[in-house]
Parts: sequence; C-alpha cells; structure tokens
Amino acid sequence: MDTICCIILAAGAGKRMGGDLPKAVTQTREKALIDHLLDAVAPLKPSRTIVVAGHKQEVLKSYLATSTSSKGHAIEIAIQDEQLGTGHAVKCALPALQGFTGTVLITYADHPLFTAETLKLFTQYHSFKKATLTMLSFKAPPPNGYGKVIRDGKGQVIRITEAKDCNPEEALIPEVNSGFYAVDSSFLKPAVESLTNSNAQGEYYLTDIVEKACKEGQTVTAFPLADASEAAGVNNPYELSLVNDILAQRHIKRLQLEGVSFADPKSCFLDASVTIASGAHIGPNVQLRGATTIGADVVVEGTAIIKDSSIASNAIIKLGSHVESSSIGKHSTVGPFAHVRPGSKIGEHCRIGNFVETKNATLRDGAKASHLTYLGDCVVGENTNIGAGTITCNYDGYNKATTTIGKDVFIGSNSALVAPITVGDGALIAAGSVITRDVPADALGLGRARQENKEHWAKERRKVLESGKR
Ligand code: UD1
Ligand code: CA
Repeated sequence: MDTICCIILAAGAGKRMGGDLPKAVTQTREKALIDHLLDAVAPLKPSRTIVVAGHKQEVLKSYLATSTSSKGHAIEIAIQDEQLGTGHAVKCALPALQGFTGTVLITYADHPLFTAETLKLFTQYHSFKKATLTMLSFKAPPPNGYGKVIRDGKGQVIRITEAKDCNPEEALIPEVNSGFYAVDSSFLKPAVESLTNSNAQGEYYLTDIVEKACKEGQTVTAFPLADASEAAGVNNPYELSLVNDILAQRHIKRLQLEGVSFADPKSCFLDASVTIASGAHIGPNVQLRGATTIGADVVVEGTAIIKDSSIASNAIIKLGSHVESSSIGKHSTVGPFAHVRPGSKIGEHCRIGNFVETKNATLRDGAKASHLTYLGDCVVGENTNIGAGTITCNYDGYNKATTTIGKDVFIGSNSALVAPITVGDGALIAAGSVITRDVPADALGLGRARQENKEHWAKERRKVLESGKR
C-alpha cells in the first residue's frame, strides 16, 4: 500500500446546526463528528493528518489537542480563514503537505458514517487501479444537491458537475460524488493551484480537479459505495438525528453479532457507552443508559430502564423495573415492578421482588425482599429474609439514619424498623412490629400491642344490630 496522508476538511461554520461551535465538534451519540473521521482513518495509518480549520478554529484546535481520537494521528492544522470552497480548502492544506509523496485521502469532517473497512477498500482500489484520482461515489436518486458523476459513452468518468451547475439531463444522473477522494500527491498540488471560481456559486470547486485529470490523460476511477447510507453528511439537526439512528442501529447490530439477543431491537434505546456481554437477552422496550454494563446470560425481560448500573451474569431484571446507579450481583432477580435507586448494592442470589424499592441499600448474598418493601440507607446480612410490607424508617423529617440487619434474620411482614437501629444475626422480628430499639442476635423482637380475644363479642353485636332492624 502507498503511504497515505489524510486531509480532513473542517472549516465550515455549520450555521444550520444552530449554536456557535465549529460543526466538526458537534457531538453525535458517540463522539464529535471529527472523531468519527479520525477513528475511521486511523487503521490506514496515515503518515500525517491535516485538519483544515476555519470557523472558530481555536475551539477546534483545543478540542483536537485533547480528543482521544486524535491520538495515533500526527495532526497538523491548516487554516482557511475564508471559506471560498472545497478546492480553496485543500489549497490551504498544501503547505502542510510539503515533502509528502503518496496518496492523499481527502475527507470531510461532517461525514461521520464511513467505516474503516470502506476507506481501506477505497484506498486499495485506488492503488490497484494505479489511478491518479479515485472518487468515492454512490447512488442517490434525484433530485438532490450532490455533484453528479458524468461519464462518457464508454462509461469513463470525465468530470463532476455540481447540482447548481447541472443541465436538466445531468440533474437526473443517479451516481453522485461523496466528496471523498484518493489523489496522487504529485497531481494534486498543481491541480489545486490552478483552480478558478468561475461557476454558479463563485467557489473554488475541488471537484474540478476530476476534469483536469481526465483532460491530462491521467487514470481517473470511481469506487462505488456498496451502502449509500455511509455517505450521509450532517448539515442540520435533522441530519444529525438520522446519523444517530444509524449509529444506534450499528451499536445493536454489533452486539447481536457478538451473541446478544434483542426481542425487538427497534424498541430499545442504548447509549453508546453501554456494554452487554454475549448471551444476554434484552426484551422489548428497554432503555440502557449511561455507564451501564450487562453481564453474560442476563435477562432483561422488558419495559425497563437501567442507568449507570452493572448487572452481573445470570441476573434477571423482570418486567417494569427501574435500576439506577446500582449494582446487581450474579443470579439475582429484580422485579417485576421494582425500583432500585442510587447506591444500592445487591449481592449474588438475592431477590428484589414486586413493588420493592431500595435506596443506598446493601443486600448481602442470598438476602431476599420479595414483596412491597422499602429498604433505604440499610445493610441487610446474608440470607436474611425481609417480609412483605417491611419499611426501614430512615428519615425523621430532618436527618437520614441507618438500619443494620445481620445475617439469617427473619423480618416478619409489615414491620417498621425505625432507624438508627441494629438487628443482630439470627434474630426474628414478629410480624407487624414497630421496632425502635436494637434487637440482639438470635432474639425475638416484638413491638406491637398484645392481642386480646373477647369471647362471643361479635355474635352479641350482631344480635343487637339485627334486633334494631325489626
Ligand atoms: C461537496 C462537493 C459535491 C459533493 C458533496 C458531498 C464540491 C464543489 N462539491 O458539495 O460534489 O456531492 O460535497 O457532500 O466540492 N469546506 C471547507 N471549506 C470550504 C468549503 C467547504 O472546509 O471553503 C468543508 C465543509 O466544512 C464540509 C466539506 O468541506 O465539511 C464540504 O463542503 P460543502 O460546502 O458541504 O460541500 P457541498 O457544497 O455540499
Ligand atoms: Ca455538504
């Protein structure tokens, strides 16, 4: 393969994006537009990468100085103070190209969907064809604003005509210019120097170098893009959302190819930062947000939101659960309809059942709260069972306090544990208790009125009431 130098045109203001940033630093769901380009080009190992900056060049420069996608590139910034066209932009890059001989790969910062594979095939095609200039073309049904690829009777590319300069017949040509080219450096320099701006837009068109090469008898080819969606550019928030949709689909596809199954991928929303291990199953209508990791063989049944959380292997998140800033251990189950709030650390083989809410709660391995419970600011020991309707009363209206429950404890149903409080290992709390004092290990904690039975009372009452009716 030839030595490659990459030029990234990034001087555009991107006014239609709204805001005042250089368009190249606009964020997609994954990273800045220009980062997509830098990452797609990196595997080609360009000997230098020239970024043509213009509008808000200081912002772009300082972005590139810290962006991780810049690493591995020898970036040089060329300045285009006035945006006089793509040809002028490349002209501004020529000083930075000094001393380079080989293939110059010309790209746009606002085209984030080209894959590394495509760019690799493209440059290989260029070198196998021993071409002076190869353009990346694709099919786009007219009407559209792209430059048209004009071929002669033998099918040989002869020029590119910009949409605004086309005659009515040319305007119908379906093969268009992506704006990405591979060009031999020794041709590029003089060709760009000689460009003029006598056209409909009064711009220096880079596309004019195609006709120039043909007229000189140089080999000019077009590499047709297999998947036209890769050529999508971003000029406004609508196009950005289309690009984000495709990036999201690619993310899910990557996961599917790695062995993650989705019952209904279109109904799921995954942030780019989410990782899912092979064997996991994601049901319909699931949102996975932020720094969430899903382990191997996890099942997320459906209609769930999991944010900034880690779900360890073989856990099951049942229907309708919400998990945030928490961790769920291996083989544990959550839900249906559970609310795991920030700071919850659920161990292995635990159960958080229906209508259970946890907040800043640590449940050690094997602990269970199966129904209708609030566990806030507490530690629950190994294999402890929390009965239905248990409440840790962690808030007195002013301060939060902690409940500490040992291991192998049994909390009877409908108990209120008024924090701060400690229940020792192996203790038992009678159902319906309000516990306000610590319970020692292995003790019975009983905190409710003693039951009284009044013999015949109900029957007598019935008699009285029924005699009144007659
Ligand atoms: C260009 C091509 C067109 C092609 C289309 C694909 C020309 C004359 N036309 O048209 O054939 O179908 O791309 O999207 O090249 N830029 C600068 N400085 C400038 C002008 C542009 O850096 O002075 C950068 C822009 O920031 C952008 C890229 O070059 O990233 C393309 O510029 P744009 O004006 O969008 O080109 P088009 O007119 O769409
Ligand atoms: Ca454009």
